[in-house]
Amino acid sequence: MKSKEIAKNLFYVGVNDRQKALFENLWPLPSGVSYNSYLILDEKNVLVDTVDVCYSDIFLKKIAEILDGRSLDYLIVNHMEPDHSGSIRLLRQRYPDVKIVGNAKTFDMLKGYHGITDGLHEVKDNDTLNIGSRALSFHTAPMVHWIEVMFTYDPKEKTLFSADAFGTFGALNGGIIDKDMNINPYREEIIRYYANIIGKYGSAVQKALQKIAKLDIQTICSTHGPVWRQHLSEAVALYDRMSRYEGEEGVTIVYGSMYGNTEQMADVVAYSLAENGIKNIAVHNVSKNHASYILADIFKYKGLIIGSPTYSNQLYPEIESILSKIGIREVKDRLFGYFGSFSWAGVAVKKLSAFPEQMNWEVVAPPVEQRQGLLSESYEGLWALGKAMADALVGRK
Ligand SMILES: Cc1cc2nc3c(=O)[nH]c(=O)nc-3n(C[C@H](O)[C@H](O)[C@H](O)COP(=O)(O)O)c2cc1C
Ligand SMILES: [Fe+2]
Ligand SMILES: [Fe+2]
Repeated sequence: MKSKEIAKNLFYVGVNDRQKALFENLWPLPSGVSYNSYLILDEKNVLVDTVDVCYSDIFLKKIAEILDGRSLDYLIVNHMEPDHSGSIRLLRQRYPDVKIVGNAKTFDMLKGYHGITDGLHEVKDNDTLNIGSRALSFHTAPMVHWIEVMFTYDPKEKTLFSADAFGTFGALNGGIIDKDMNINPYREEIIRYYANIIGKYGSAVQKALQKIAKLDIQTICSTHGPVWRQHLSEAVALYDRMSRYEGEEGVTIVYGSMYGNTEQMADVVAYSLAENGIKNIAVHNVSKNHASYILADIFKYKGLIIGSPTYSNQLYPEIESILSKIGIREVKDRLFGYFGSFSWAGVAVKKLSAFPEQMNWEVVAPPVEQRQGLLSESYEGLWALGKAMADALVGRK
């Protein structure tokens, strides 16, 4: 299995996973995912991160082929989540002398997950490691997914090894570097990856971006998806926007509905938004569309409108579930509207009203509560809700 040289003496030794249905047993992978690992040949030979244990066999083969009898001197562990740390134990068995480079938090997890406590080289923020023709530097990025995360910078190739940051779902279908492929399929998936995996940690991402702004970076090697070179500034700008929770002019409508009455309400709001000039409108039936796609749109658009029927004196369960997922991610600064339905004693609208308070969001219009079928009164309220949202979005209040 040939590996790819992506810069002089820098080799891609990652793998594709097109078998796993759900990343973290939660997030669908219709186009797979890659676990990226990189091997640097210098006076000392250095591996950056490993791969999921299911792919360790092919991974170890790739490494042995490039080393071609040379020693493996260091393994840098930028992230301990098992999609990247899963092969460490097997790697250590194969290369018993490899020194493992990480910070104190990395080593706490290395002990807990793999029982490894020896052959360690501990680094702190901004420390360097001379490997011959270059000194790699380490930059902690706590909570850019987990607490122990760090980035590694190679000043010679001006390359940043960024752990999960700038990663995306989608296996690598041949090409490794962005300039060698059509990156369009990754444009949506990088947002879905961010919203679902990193989304809660916006302020940590902002801090990490400020740190790396001081470095001269021409290539970003993330642990998932393409190596960013041609589209590097686009990827960084996207991360900057998303981690500030900045939404585009557009609206996500999320509704639950058992028999179509609440669904009709959602359509009225959508028609009103369009009539009032909004072009980006994503409408999600919460029971049908996977939450990961709904969350991606919520991160993308500044407007959010949620509708729920009353269900056994509660919100519709799937709406309850998506509210929890939005709450966990602490999505900031959305313009919000809501509506609901019932048949004999309405509860949904009242329950929904607590959500924008919890999130500290602006509510653009009074909620619309509908008893049974769609009548002209609720039609007018829903139309007004769509208009108010459109006005708030384009600042024509
Ligand atoms: C399983 C179930 C539980 C319901 N629970 C309540 C309730 O507690 N209070 C109420 O006023 N209506 C309740 N309803 C009625 C719905 O809220 C009402 O029919 C609403 O219009 C349904 O919207 P939909 O057509 O979008 O599903 C319930 C309906 C179902 C099917
Ligand atoms: Fe991770
Ligand atoms: Fe990861």
